[in-house]
Amino acid sequence: MADFDTLRIRAGYNSADHNYAVNVPIYQTASFDLGSIDRAQSLWSMEEAAAIYTRVGNPTVDALEKRVAALDGAYAAVALASGMAAISYTILGLTVGGGNIVTTRALYGGSEDAFSHFLPKLGAEIKFVEDRFDIASFEKAIDENTRGIYIETISNPNAEIYDYEALSELAHSHGIPLIVDNTVATPYLFQPFSHGADIIVYSATKGLGGHGNTIAGLVLEKGDFVYSPEKFPHFYEDSYKIKDKAGNRRSVIDIDAKSPLIIYIRAFFLEFIGAALSPFDAFLILQGIDTISERVAKQSENAARIVDYLQTREEVAWVKHPTAKGSPFESLKDKYFKKGAGNLLTFGFKGTEEQLNTFFNNLKYFSYHVNIGDVRSLIVNSPKTTHAELDSKHLEDAGIAADTVRISAGLESAEDLINDLENAFNEAFSA
Ligand SMILES: Cc1ncc(COP(=O)(O)O)c(C=O)c1O
Repeated sequence: MADFDTLRIRAGYNSADHNYAVNVPIYQTASFDLGSIDRAQSLWSMEEAAAIYTRVGNPTVDALEKRVAALDGAYAAVALASGMAAISYTILGLTVGGGNIVTTRALYGGSEDAFSHFLPKLGAEIKFVEDRFDIASFEKAIDENTRGIYIETISNPNAEIYDYEALSELAHSHGIPLIVDNTVATPYLFQPFSHGADIIVYSATKGLGGHGNTIAGLVLEKGDFVYSPEKFPHFYEDSYKIKDKAGNRRSVIDIDAKSPLIIYIRAFFLEFIGAALSPFDAFLILQGIDTISERVAKQSENAARIVDYLQTREEVAWVKHPTAKGSPFESLKDKYFKKGAGNLLTFGFKGTEEQLNTFFNNLKYFSYHVNIGDVRSLIVNSPKTTHAELDSKHLEDAGIAADTVRISAGLESAEDLINDLENAFNEAFSA
């Protein structure tokens, strides 16, 4: 198996299959010729895997799926039109017919909001653990209807990290998968499947694409989790949608027992709800992945330098990042994040609201907007923006204090970024 740096450029694409095009071509077409009646039957019965219609598959999108699958050592992947589609399809796909997912409040605001208010209306019950740093608390929340444990590997916004291997052991002892959102870490910093996860979801909008120009998502399955028919009966149901050539109904498990969730998402969610990734957007994410190692390594380094700087400022009440002095995550970082701890950090701003406004208004190199993982450095007041949906109790449970400022470190020079912060602090506190 080739190294990560080779796979991120080469995996999932053979130019000989695409007129020797060096770059993955953009197959900008809605539909594909079926060729012959016999071939059409093979495609419909899933005996032959090839593109039919871009809502459920496209060669450019396929190259992206194969590339990210290779980076994470996944058995299968499906790309979608956004990270939220990847998350919602995964939760709904595991809880068809009822069931719950056990999770924490330390999540991207959109996920927290969907989990608290929207997905339960569609039948997916979500149980939030009392203490996310205590495995016993997860165990307490699991019951016979639990269909998975869900966490973010590096949480948004406070960059918390967890004991993934312990969570995986717990999940497996209850016959359920560990699902992780690996968006902030990216496969460059962290390989969830090597530490017990079974399903990965990504917002590829962030570090995978890395240029803040495309919304995209992915779901990956490792391929060795055994879904029991008692907990996941919908994977075993013979469906009119999936027939063999003779017209006999089959289940997603019949098609491929190693990736029933991915097949379910393709056969039902993409088919009936959509959220298909466009070939052009898949191409843009592939372009981003070409440089993922250099980008994420430097962003992690820049974040660590900013953390060091912020910890010297008296206007800063606290700093949260696994590299911060006094971080409770130091030993987990040493165990799981040997290549760096990511670009996301938060700090507490000690001044008044007016001083915070002056601080933001005087930043030259930090853009004030709600994305992360971009080549540009970004800054935002999370409780009023990215996590504004959370009520005060949920904000407190998520550890998001009212003074929280979030930074996503970009690729500018660390010196320029630190000088920019220094100048803005001086302006805000000059009076
Ligand atoms: C950790 C995390 N997961 C998922 C999402 C949602 O992704 P998207 O915006 O691509 O739908 C985000 C967006 O900020 C995120 O930060």
